[in-house]
Amino acid sequence: MADSVNDERIPTVICDGVDIVYRVNGTGAGRGSATAALNRMLHRKQTEKAAGVRRVHAVKNVSFTAYKGEAIGLIGTNGSGKSTLLRAVAGLLPVENGKIYTNGQPSLLGVNAALMGDLTGERNVILGGLAMGMSREEIKARYQEIVDFSGINEKGDFITLPMRTYSSGMGARLRFSIAAAKNHDVLLIDEALATGDRSFQRRSEKRIRELREQAGTVFLVTHSNATIRDTCERALWLERGVLRMDGPTEDVLAAYEDFTNGDKPKGPAAPAPAKQGK
Ligand SMILES: Nc1ncnc2c1ncn2[C@@H]1O[C@H](COP(=O)(O)OP(=O)(O)OP(=O)(O)O)[C@@H](O)[C@H]1O
Ligand SMILES: [Mg+2]
Repeated sequence: MADSVNDERIPTVICDGVDIVYRVNGTGAGRGSATAALNRMLHRKQTEKAAGVRRVHAVKNVSFTAYKGEAIGLIGTNGSGKSTLLRAVAGLLPVENGKIYTNGQPSLLGVNAALMGDLTGERNVILGGLAMGMSREEIKARYQEIVDFSGINEKGDFITLPMRTYSSGMGARLRFSIAAAKNHDVLLIDEALATGDRSFQRRSEKRIRELREQAGTVFLVTHSNATIRDTCERALWLERGVLRMDGPTEDVLAAYEDFTNGDKPKGPAAPAPAKQGK
């Protein structure tokens, strides 16, 4: 793989010393009460802490450069800052310190991608396509392909039902199918594949590889190490907001698996390690 890498690698995302801090209001005494709110208004000058504002430092001094044609797995235990970092790369969250540079338009595909529950799958395909900047003609031309890829209609005519009637896996499949219909400069995927069944995961992994070949960059957040192994040649490991490791998938996953196995309770009901095997 390494020998096919072009000498002139084009950076698509550069994170330079990025810190991201959430501020949560109303965690002080008497939170939520009218008096507390009034006090906050009257004492604007006081420090955030005294005003009951809690700071959550979710991403700490993270730096990396992503290049065209790369698929990068983002791993780390729950609450380690993966979704936060992706949202910031997508331009949806401000950074506290540091800079994020992107070359091209990043698209975030998350479990909460903005599809409308009350509209049918059909309408959502059209809306989602328009939201990604596709023309009506383009969407029409790819409509069947999107529906077929999602497999939503495999078990009946579900595409004409409102999305709120879909199972969480079906919703995630449709979201991924819509997003994957377009070639993205930078595609950010947050756990979108996790709820799909194995056959859908295979199809999406194949699609991720294609997107990557079309010279885009793909970031993939998932707790499935097998998916990361199959799709990404590079991995970033975030832990408590700190970038612990950045390197070839195998090396990073080996260290990460050591780390997670270390604190895993060894119960008989523990699921088998996510090892690839057929
Ligand atoms: N809207 C928010 N307001 C305040 N704190 C938040 C908010 N969203 C996330 N956090 C905090 O930021 C930290 C990182 O959260 P994040 O969602 O980025 O983790 P994650 O790595 O995506 O976890 P998971 O694997 O569970 O999806 C956590 O401590 C979380 O509590
Ligand atoms: Mg997350």
